[in-house]
Amino acid sequence: MRKIAMFDTTLRDGEQTVGVNFSIAEKVKIAKQLQNWGVDVIEAGFPIASPNDFQSVQAISRALSTTRVTGLARMKQKDIDACIKATADSKNKQIHVFIATSPIHRSAKLHMSKAQVLHEIDEKVRYAKQYFDIVQFSPEDATRTEPGFLVQACQTAIDAGATVINIADTVGYSNPAEFGATFDNLIQHIQSPHKITYSAHCHNDLGMATANAMAAIEHGADRIEGTVNGIGERAGNTALEEVAAQIKVRQDYYQCATNIDMKQTKATSDMISEFAKIPVPKNKAVIGPFAFSHESGIHQDGYLKNHQTYEILTPESVGMKHTQIPLGKLSGSHAVHERLAQIGYTVTPEQMRIIFPKFKAFADQVALVSNDDLEQIMSSCEMKVAK
Ligand code: KIV
Ligand code: ZN
Repeated sequence: MRKIAMFDTTLRDGEQTVGVNFSIAEKVKIAKQLQNWGVDVIEAGFPIASPNDFQSVQAISRALSTTRVTGLARMKQKDIDACIKATADSKNKQIHVFIATSPIHRSAKLHMSKAQVLHEIDEKVRYAKQYFDIVQFSPEDATRTEPGFLVQACQTAIDAGATVINIADTVGYSNPAEFGATFDNLIQHIQSPHKITYSAHCHNDLGMATANAMAAIEHGADRIEGTVNGIGERAGNTALEEVAAQIKVRQDYYQCATNIDMKQTKATSDMISEFAKIPVPKNKAVIGPFAFSHESGIHQDGYLKNHQTYEILTPESVGMKHTQIPLGKLSGSHAVHERLAQIGYTVTPEQMRIIFPKFKAFADQVALVSNDDLEQIMSSCEMKVAK
């Protein structure tokens, strides 16, 4: 089965979330957990950016036994040298070099012509290749780059020795159809004597990060970059747990697999949430507590009859405890009966006909009905109920 590799950049792009600053000890713990979770590559930091980043890439390079480690570098020799030093002790490493290719970045930020950008790519990829077997090239803001120039930039990197081409939707500008077409165009026009791994790096500015990543997979990308819980610059990055869950749940459609151990997902998510001090939104796909809660009577009844009516993923499969059936004004008698049984009441259908209207009247006034509330409703019914 086709394998989709997961490249985790929680420690680099994820740390670009406003207010997030992981300590080196936290980064090493996160990297070990990411290794347990099953990611294939960990971007441990941007070694030139700060002493903390340099030391954490170094510490993670020493701590990990199997997962590949990378550092990030601009097209600058000093950045590449910092990556060489920081990853020196790694058993499995690569380098990730990038430069912006879009007109706005070329003119406003880099002050470079197209020819100068191509020259930098050629020179610095060749330099990096002397030290790393695997050189990954990312055209930053690729999705706002002229398609022809994007092909030229990637071809230049490949001719200089790059084996991974990572298409960055840096400002979350693309959409699934357009992003897929970007991969089609690259794969059709790029020539290489060796195998190229195409990769996608998406941001969530318009809420498309996961959808765009999935489109990339459908159009030839064998690797997805992202972060745990989708943290990252501005609106964040592709949430890797969402991609892993899509591939697992919709294997019939995508016909591929990852190395992710889904049962480790909650533990991984909790660790990032704790160290980043960013709570996971309650309704977050895959790992939010509400992802496995059923509120309305119709859904509760369906779920109680057959879980698969309203759950395509089980909480246990992602390491969460169990499904919640909260009781509220929309709950039906099936869910109330079930909860009464859980707290010890054996209620007959006749008794339920008296209890349920009282429950409804109470539930209409509150957000949620607790077990204590249920006990009170039961005592107000003044009937003999087996307990
Ligand atoms: O979003 C981006 O363009 C990046 C690159 C460094 C890949 O994070
Ligand atoms: Zn990014």
